[in-house]
Amino acid sequence: QIKVIIDCDPGIDDAAALAIALTNPKFDVRLITTVAGNVSVDKTTKNALKLVHFFNADVPVAAGAVVPLLKPFEDAARIHGESGMPGYDFGELYGTPIKKDAVTAMYDVLMAEPEPITLIPTGAYTNIALLLRLHPEVAPKIKRIVAMGGSISGGNMTSTAEFNVFTDPHAAEIMYNAGIPVTMIGLDITLKALVTPDTLAKLPTLNEAGKMLRALITHYNDGGDAGVPMHDVNTIFYLLHPEAIQTKEYWIDVVTEGPAIGTTVADIRGAYHDGKTNVDVAIDIDTVAFNEFMLTEVSGMDK
Ligand code: BDR
Ligand code: CA
Repeated sequence: QIKVIIDCDPGIDDAAALAIALTNPKFDVRLITTVAGNVSVDKTTKNALKLVHFFNADVPVAAGAVVPLLKPFEDAARIHGESGMPGYDFGELYGTPIKKDAVTAMYDVLMAEPEPITLIPTGAYTNIALLLRLHPEVAPKIKRIVAMGGSISGGNMTSTAEFNVFTDPHAAEIMYNAGIPVTMIGLDITLKALVTPDTLAKLPTLNEAGKMLRALITHYNDGGDAGVPMHDVNTIFYLLHPEAIQTKEYWIDVVTEGPAIGTTVADIRGAYHDGKTNVDVAIDIDTVAFNEFMLTEVSGMDK
């Protein structure tokens, strides 16, 4: 089993990633933490709790940062809807977050485990940066970070910046340079691995989980006729099927001001950082395998 902490901002694609991680027995989700991103943190927390309840999972949810470290907060409700998870009635019965804040909860889980744990951030990296700043001694307890965000080939927020890094570029800079192995699951692959209309049509025929995910995705204001990107799911796919994603190490700098704020700049020529690297960047993906994965995972859900 892969022991993980998922730090997220559900969010429709976060919901799909959580659904798979909570139901695939290869994962042991120790904690879910939430952050402001697609919508405000009170909403992302509520959405995470709804998913935990939907799948009857026994996983604590801890609420995290309300705003980014330095940059003013801008949500993505125009993409994910006002609630962040529209189109499905989860009912009003779901749990409450634990009393600890996300950073304290992450720290406690990491320190209590004998083996290092994998972090999966699928929202802005504010909580992770706060954790690394408040408790730098925790770094050796983090096995690796597999993070959705960034791009070395153009943005989805501005011409060059991807949403998660754009939301909190200062946090991204801290996370990339913490000396922990980081895999950047960015738009370079997530915009290739579109979930096709054919896959989407099959989802509701599988089970209630498939109906739920199809309903959310119908309200997702991203993608086009060729299909929809399920950005955050690519982190989970990579952990289970590393052979389907090709990566390459680069030095990644984050632009923290000006018109290119939030851009992840890869030192492709190795000229600026003397060939040194800090991030393993996903650069290509088997898109057919990704679609098969979506269907297999949802079919296997016990709901
Ligand atoms: C990322 O931004 C969010 O809107 C998605 O949930 C995903 O994490 C894609 O750029
Ligand atoms: Ca997200």
